[in-house]
Amino acid sequence: MCGICASVGFKNGVELVVDGLKKLEYRGYDSSGIAYLKNDEINLIKSVGQIKNLQEKITDNLQSDVVIGHTRWATHGKVSVENAHPHISFGKSFALVHNGIIENYEHLKKQFQIDNLYSQTDTEVLINLIEKQEGKTLDKLIGACNMVEGSFAVCLIEKKSDKIYLAKRNSPLMVAISQNGCMAGSDISIFAKKFEECFILEDDEFVIASAKKLDFFNKYGEKIEKTPLNISNFDFSDENLNEKYFMLKEIKEQPIVLKKTFFKYFSENYLNEQLLSQLGKFKKFHFIACGTAYHSSLMGALFLEKFCRKECQVSIASEFRYANRVLSKNCLYVFVSQSGETADTIACAKLVKEKGMKVMCVTNVPYSTLEHIADFVLPTFAGKEVAVASTKAYVSQVFTLLIMVLKMAKIDEQDLLKDFVLRYDNFNFDEKLLFPISKFKKVFFIGRGQDYVTSLEASLKLKEIAYLNCMGMASGELKHGTLALIDKETLVIAVSTVESLKSKVESNIEEVKARGGKVLLLSNLVHNVDVDFRIDLPSFDEILMPIVSVIPLQLLAFNYALMLGYNPDKPRNLAKSVTVE
Ligand code: G6P
Repeated sequence: MCGICASVGFKNGVELVVDGLKKLEYRGYDSSGIAYLKNDEINLIKSVGQIKNLQEKITDNLQSDVVIGHTRWATHGKVSVENAHPHISFGKSFALVHNGIIENYEHLKKQFQIDNLYSQTDTEVLINLIEKQEGKTLDKLIGACNMVEGSFAVCLIEKKSDKIYLAKRNSPLMVAISQNGCMAGSDISIFAKKFEECFILEDDEFVIASAKKLDFFNKYGEKIEKTPLNISNFDFSDENLNEKYFMLKEIKEQPIVLKKTFFKYFSENYLNEQLLSQLGKFKKFHFIACGTAYHSSLMGALFLEKFCRKECQVSIASEFRYANRVLSKNCLYVFVSQSGETADTIACAKLVKEKGMKVMCVTNVPYSTLEHIADFVLPTFAGKEVAVASTKAYVSQVFTLLIMVLKMAKIDEQDLLKDFVLRYDNFNFDEKLLFPISKFKKVFFIGRGQDYVTSLEASLKLKEIAYLNCMGMASGELKHGTLALIDKETLVIAVSTVESLKSKVESNIEEVKARGGKVLLLSNLVHNVDVDFRIDLPSFDEILMPIVSVIPLQLLAFNYALMLGYNPDKPRNLAKSVTVE
C-alpha cells in the first residue's frame, strides 16, 4: 500500500509531484522516490523514511516535465533504498510507480524468466514484464496488466517519451488536465487549487496522458469516453497545521466536527424521508469495517438495536471476506470507513454487491471507491484526517450513526443534540496523570455496553501511537481469564457512563482492587467506590457519552506517546489508509 503521483507537461513537475507525495504520505512513509526525464533519459532519486528525506536529496530548481513519484508502505521487501519506488526496467527504458500487490508475481517471474532483480519487490517484476511485452507502450502495459492477479494503480514513464501511462485495478487512481499539463495520483487532494475537474479511473481502464491530452482505453486497447467530475467546489481547506501535531489538531477540531455534522444532517437534511423509508425497510443491518471504523460500527449496532429494534451484526472486514457468510436480501450491508479505500472493506462491499445485496457506506472521503460501490451513502463531515490514529473521524462516525438511528426511530432528539453540539467544548486533559500511569506495565480498559466499545477504541489508540501492550475488554469478561493477570503492576482503566450499569462496574473495580490492581475511573457518574485515579467527564445525555468519554482517552494516548518521545502522527509500521490485504 502506497501513494503515487505523476505530472506531465508542467515545467515544475518535480515540485508538483513532491508536493503531491506529501499529501499522500498518510498512505505510507517507509520510503519515497521520484523518476523524471532529463535529456530523454530516466533519472531516479530515492530515499528511506519520510518525504522530507527525499526533498533533501533533490537539488533546487530541478526541472522536468515528465515525473512520477511514490511514497511506500512496505509489503514485499524490507524498507530500503533498493526497494523504494520508482523501479526501472532492466533495459532502462521504463520506470514505474505502483500501489497494490501483484499476487502472482512469483509465477510471472518464472514464466518470463525475470531473474537477477535489483530489489525484493513485486513491482520490479511488473516493470520487467511490461518491457518484455510486444507492441507499443500502451499494448505492453495492457498486456502485462491483463496477466496480473491482485491490485495495482500504476504510473509508467518511458525514456524519450513525453507521455505518462496509467492503469488501475482495485487500487485508486485519478487524473486531471489543465491548459498547462496533467497530473495523476492516488487521491483527489493532489489536484487542490490546480484543476477544475478530474477523472476517476475504473478497474481495468488505461490512460495515455500528455501535456495537452488525455486518452482513455479499456483492457482491449479500445478508446473509451469518460465523464469528468467537477471538483471546483471540493473542500480542500482543512489541511493547515496550526498545532505541532495533526493528531492534536484533529482532537481539538472535534467540537467543530460535531456542530458541522449536526448542521448537515438537520439543516441541510442529508438524510431525507425517502432514504429513511428505504433504510427502514431492512429487517437486519450487518456492519463491516476495519480498525477504528469497526469500533464505530459496534457503537452504531448498539444504537440501532436499542432504538430501532433492528437485528444487527458487526464483522471485521478481513474476517467477513473469506467466511462465506450467509447473505440476505432483508439485510442492509453497512460499510464504515474513514478513507473509503481500505482494501478489505472494499473487497467485502464488492462481494456482497455482486451477490445482489444492498450496500450502504459511511465514509469521510467524497468520491472514494467505497462511495462508488454503495447504493446509499451516509457522509461524515470530519474533514481531512491526516494523523494515522483516527480521532475526529471516529467521533463523526459515531455521531452520524446516532443521528441516522434516531431519525429512523422517529425520535425527535434534535434539541438534545443541538444543545450538546453547542455546549460541548474541548476537554482539558490533566497531564499530571501521565507520570503515575506510566509506571504500569500492563493496562486494561474495561467497560460495559457502549463503554466496552469505548474501551476497545481507547486501547487501540494507546497501542497504535504509544506502543503499549494494552487491551480493551468487556468488564464482565475479566473473571473469565484476565483476572489472572491482575497484580500491583496492572492499571485498569474503567469507563462508566451508563447509570443502570453503575453497580456492575463498581463490582468489577472491587475485583481488580482485591487482586492488588490499580484503577483509573473515567466517568460522569457519582460512584461509591474508592479508586487510585479519576478522570471526571462532563455530563450529557447517556446516548452522547460515547463521544464525550473517548476524547480524554484520545488525549491520554497522544500525551503518553509524546512523553515517550514518539511522533503520534506517524506511528511505526502503520499507515493511515491500508489499501492492501
Ligand atoms: C488503518 C488506520 C486505522 C483505521 C483503519 C481503517 O489501520 O491506521 O486508523 O481505523 O485503517 O481505515 P478506514 O479508512 O477504512 O476507516
